[in-house]
Amino acid sequence: MDKKMPRLKHLLTPGEVAKRSGVAVSALHFYESKGLIKSTRNAGNQRRYSREVLRYVAIIKIAQRIGIPLATVGEALGVLPDGHTLSAKAWKELSSQWREELDRRIKTMTALRDELDGCIGCGCLSRRDCPLRNPNDKLGEQGTGARLLEDE
Ligand code: FES
Repeated sequence: MDKKMPRLKHLLTPGEVAKRSGVAVSALHFYESKGLIKSTRNAGNQRRYSREVLRYVAIIKIAQRIGIPLATVGEALGVLPDGHTLSAKAWKELSSQWREELDRRIKTMTALRDELDGCIGCGCLSRRDCPLRNPNDKLGEQGTGARLLEDE
């Protein structure tokens, strides 16, 4: 018997995984179609999951909460060998990477919020002056002077 193959009596049905993880069975199928989790089939060709899948689903849910795209989750989980137990160390490394991504997003969102603050009560929506319409002063890079008189 393959040592990596979980014994059938220790496998979970999709319904059991859904109940324990708090996601719909359809979500499990979706995660599986994206390669984020894996199942085996029993003699009746029904899906069965190892208990390890609960940790994977937990990580997928956390990633979704903090806005990490599923493709990024897939890349991170895809490097783990088949049958790999998702250890605390592996999660520590993943969460560390995602914290950096979250920090970057917070910085971007904070800058956008600050620019939006300048728009509140203004209403000009100027293509030249509004930082949200003209991020990083793109028009300024094209040269000086009234560049949009004909467009405005
Ligand atoms: S709306 Fe006037 S600066 Fe954005």
